[in-house]
Amino acid sequence: MNRLPSFRLDGRITVVTGGGSGIGRAAAHMFASAGATVVVLDSNGAAASDAADEIGSSADSIATDVTNPVAVKEVFDEIADRYGRIDVLFNNAGINRRRDSMELSLEDWNAVIAVNMTGMLLCARSAAKHMTKGGSIVNTASVLGLSGGWFPNIAYQASKGAVVNMTRSWAVEWASYHIRVNAIAPSIVRTPFTSALTEQPDFVAKFESLTPLGRLCEPEDMVGAVLFLASDASSMVTGHILPIDGGMLAQ
Ligand SMILES: NC(=O)c1ccc[n+]([C@@H]2O[C@H](COP(=O)([O-])OP(=O)(O)OC[C@H]3O[C@@H](n4cnc5c(N)ncnc54)[C@H](O)[C@@H]3O)[C@@H](O)[C@H]2O)c1
Repeated sequence: MNRLPSFRLDGRITVVTGGGSGIGRAAAHMFASAGATVVVLDSNGAAASDAADEIGSSADSIATDVTNPVAVKEVFDEIADRYGRIDVLFNNAGINRRRDSMELSLEDWNAVIAVNMTGMLLCARSAAKHMTKGGSIVNTASVLGLSGGWFPNIAYQASKGAVVNMTRSWAVEWASYHIRVNAIAPSIVRTPFTSALTEQPDFVAKFESLTPLGRLCEPEDMVGAVLFLASDASSMVTGHILPIDGGMLAQ
């Protein structure tokens, strides 16, 4: 008898928001490699369709702005119509507007909250409605949602702190529907999101020194944790926030 837990996602219908770039794109590839059908959502429709083309016949893409309540509902309804249900949501689209608190405009505050917080809500509930066989939602939080951070970044800090507690709330609220909800909390990952920082040698040296494992993360460092949380290997894990930070928060 095979006693290994299953990390496979054969036959599962998975949706990745922000799947056109960075962490989401790496996760979309991983879902397909694990046997799933993948729908890549991104406000950058060209990036989403490029990611789906790269993956091949098990992937599809739809241009979607996660802040648009009407569009989000329609897109998830369309996915469920096309594939019968949704099994996994990687709720990952996010933006940043890094500013001092005194200088942050309300426009920037609202933009970050709209994508990182409201967008997460709209996608999670639109997907959960179609998780008719139960399912798994993996939200992308951040180490900045679990700490005061290392530089002024109040809108992002607030939004990722909210993702942490939204994750726990949904884990409790939707457990009776057999929907598990967990989050990853990455530290600095080399993607277009952080390129302005990771191109600065001083910044890289500082964060390498703050990281016991001594390097920044790559998008590929994220996908093992996402697979664990998405698959039956984590069947009794819900409401958990998993830092992927090379030991940064362990200090
Ligand atoms: N890169 C890091 O260091 C890091 C660390 C911790 C958490 N995160 C989080 O990881 C997630 C992915 O970040 P990434 O580094 O891969 O960034 P990225 O910029 O490479 O990718 C983000 C994707 O989200 C899409 N997106 C942005 N706004 C959207 C919207 N309104 N609707 C739909 N799609 C939208 C973008 O078009 C882009 O393709 C984000 O939630 C981010 O906050 C990133």
